[in-house]
Amino acid sequence: PSIQRSDYTPLAWNVDGVDLHFALDPAATVVTSRLRCSRNTQIAPAPLRLLGEDLEVLGLTVDGVEAAPGLVTQGEGWLEIALEGRSAEVGIVTRINPQSNTSLSGLYVSRGGFFTQCEAEGFRRITWFPDRPDAMTRFTVTLEADAASCPVLLSNGNLIEQGPLAGGRHYARWEDPFPKPSYLFALVAAKLVALERRVTTASGREVLLQVWVEEGNLDRTEHAMDSLIHSMRWDEEVFGLELDLDRFMIVAVSDFNMGAMENKGLNIFNAKYVLAKPDTATDVDYEHIESVVAHEYFHNWTGNRVTCRDWFQLTLKEGLTVFRDQQFSADMLAVAAGDAGAASARAVKRIDDVRVLRAVQFAEDAGPMAHPIRPDSYQEINNFYTATVYEKGAEVIRMLHTLLGAEGFRNGMDLYFSYHDGQAVTCDDFVDCMAEANGHDLDQFMRWYSQAGTPHVKAAGAYDAASRSYTLMLSQHTPPTPGQTDKQPLLIPVAVGLIGPDGRDLPLRLEGENHAGVTTRVLELSEVEQSFRFLDVAVEPVPSVLRGFSAPVILDLAEDDARLAFRMAHDTDAFNRWDAAQRFAERVILVLTADAAAGRTLAVPADFVAAFRALLNDAALDPAFRAQAMTLPSEGYLIERMQPADPAPLRVALMHLMRALGTHLADDWLALCRTLEVTGPYRYHPTDAGRRALGNLALKYLAAAGVPEGLAWAQAQFARFGNMTEGVGALAALVQSASPAREAALGAFHARYRDDALVLDKWFALQAGAWRWDATAAPVLERVRALMVDPAFSLANPNKVYALLGSFFRANPAEFHAADGSGYAFWADQVIALDARNPQVAARMARSLENWQRFTPALQALIRVQLERVAGATGLSPDVTEIVEKALAD
Ligand code: ARG
Ligand code: ZN
Repeated sequence: PSIQRSDYTPLAWNVDGVDLHFALDPAATVVTSRLRCSRNTQIAPAPLRLLGEDLEVLGLTVDGVEAAPGLVTQGEGWLEIALEGRSAEVGIVTRINPQSNTSLSGLYVSRGGFFTQCEAEGFRRITWFPDRPDAMTRFTVTLEADAASCPVLLSNGNLIEQGPLAGGRHYARWEDPFPKPSYLFALVAAKLVALERRVTTASGREVLLQVWVEEGNLDRTEHAMDSLIHSMRWDEEVFGLELDLDRFMIVAVSDFNMGAMENKGLNIFNAKYVLAKPDTATDVDYEHIESVVAHEYFHNWTGNRVTCRDWFQLTLKEGLTVFRDQQFSADMLAVAAGDAGAASARAVKRIDDVRVLRAVQFAEDAGPMAHPIRPDSYQEINNFYTATVYEKGAEVIRMLHTLLGAEGFRNGMDLYFSYHDGQAVTCDDFVDCMAEANGHDLDQFMRWYSQAGTPHVKAAGAYDAASRSYTLMLSQHTPPTPGQTDKQPLLIPVAVGLIGPDGRDLPLRLEGENHAGVTTRVLELSEVEQSFRFLDVAVEPVPSVLRGFSAPVILDLAEDDARLAFRMAHDTDAFNRWDAAQRFAERVILVLTADAAAGRTLAVPADFVAAFRALLNDAALDPAFRAQAMTLPSEGYLIERMQPADPAPLRVALMHLMRALGTHLADDWLALCRTLEVTGPYRYHPTDAGRRALGNLALKYLAAAGVPEGLAWAQAQFARFGNMTEGVGALAALVQSASPAREAALGAFHARYRDDALVLDKWFALQAGAWRWDATAAPVLERVRALMVDPAFSLANPNKVYALLGSFFRANPAEFHAADGSGYAFWADQVIALDARNPQVAARMARSLENWQRFTPALQALIRVQLERVAGATGLSPDVTEIVEKALAD
């Protein structure tokens, strides 16, 4: 049963206000709701339609009188009440069982506390309600619970009353002054403590900020608090947007399906994205915390004040908010790096984001789940919190920013809030504001919202010495995706520079234009094929195309090794310099893979090693950038670039290449390690983080190659690490090696962190993602099976599932795709087991085989059997059903 975007109809009844009362009890919570409804006179009269799931109704009244049975019609997941007149008050009492709610959607229990997750459709698992985002209303919430086990009672908005009750219970009443849809509702009742700060907003209001955690974690809250304060300042400065509440709360919870949730005034977070101190969190954890805190905070305007009319518009808030958090992180890095390092710091952030986009979103866009950033249909909305909606959505917003400029973009944002504050709107409404504020026609641009698939842009240049001109031919093509066979040309901003033989950028002058001087130009490709002619080009240049990754496309540009090495050394656009290194590495790896598959001897080209060595030893280059440039493309990305994909020889090739680079450059890596040590106490700072990242990468190459001094270095670093970045870096190097020290290090790490769930997740993930450097070692699946019965592992905790199973399915293709099919059978067992308790988590794991048709025929045959086994399992959720059905459809 799929839902169509075109089927949208407005609500027949508005909810003008709702009072909720929760008598909280783990096994039997009673929810009393009073809805003040008024008829939408714009449309023909219709009953009030409420949605509900797994609810036991104890009572239903209309205007205080028990509803006559004839008034109510009920179906699968819905209930309609034939209300009369213009307004009515509906009272509903339901009973729910939070303790048995293992889906972590709705109201659930985690470590003795009560928490909610309502986006997208969790509120209907709490009480009957018009649970859709265009039903915005004011909430008043009373919580009542046992005072000893739940001393803290939180909900959205302002605390207006609290006190003791009989029988060791107590209550608190919260009122949210802003109308909101039910997906932004939240409550927390638990034993928690808070770090508090009082800050003043731009307009001079004092607000209370709180980060709530379990008692023992108070020493891990400072970074989240700092991140929140920085986010507030940034949104005031860059977008003129201020916090609109007197109080803003962040709560950490250990059991959570996703990253975090932007509930109005009460953000609930996966503990992973809150808790940090130097000896438990890595630099990357610090970075993620900063960006997720910012993301959820930014939703307060882009998501909450202006929300989505329906779930097809999800990218309206997600693409825009991801773009905002990316810009924020880049600015934070640039400021910390100082003037000299700012450009490189921004490029490093851009590289991180593009790496994810290419590995995950490009794969999604090329498979059976391909969908436009604004989908046309879905079976289960939870399956559409995707890299396409989020990350490609952010790229689409970034292209608007590029096309309109920072100021034009800001003007569009201002107009958007002036028109739509307090409303539930569509993606068209947003783009219309951008167009109106800038007097810019964006009709063709809207195709980015409706067309799925990654466009291919082909670039070819020709120099004409006689006329001193250079012509760049650009063409575009988007391959068909399921349900969308013909594609229209898109408006694609292509940032271009021309590099002279001395490695310096040439000033650009486009034919028909007078001004010259800029060295990077954004060309607007709007046709299937277009030529751009540059004049006054004194020498034949090397083109640098798609600088800064100006559009989410696959660039097809023929370059030989020499040219790639040249751009690796000279491209002034740091992103493209990195990309040249990635392209060169990809080419080398794919040749090695073909050689491995054919049983030929493997040889790493000397020019690649030389180019790599030059990067390694370029002390003028920021260490963080060098680490990015020398990190090989991910296996996930490479698999998308192979036809057909064969993970086994790919792994052989990657191991060979890592060993070769470790061996040939051993002295360089060791010398590098000696220059990189960071002294002084740990601080989360891009300069230090870059040095640690590069040092850890050096250890990885040295350990892979089995260089004794490198292994000794890793062991020494592991034996006395001062922070988690160094600890996990050293451990990762030892795990990714054939060193006999491997198991002892894993054991020591486990002993030290046995009671720290978040740190143990790293331990699980490292083992599940390990390559078999020691050819005599057992298949990794055996280790994964053993770890599943470790007392610290639990299928009930999403973080554990993602760390162990997710890492095996996603980060370890060669082991997962073992030729005997054992990985696939294991996958099916786990998907079926997970689905019975948590469909969202099960569906995420199920997706790791959706691109199965990319693999060799032998692997495909084995995968099909398991896909069919899952599809045929009894009682399968709509979530997993949609994934496997689409994977199996032709
Ligand atoms: N809106 C949240 C965020 O992007 C994600 C919530 C996703 N929830 C879900 N059940 N799919 O920050
Ligand atoms: Zn979001």
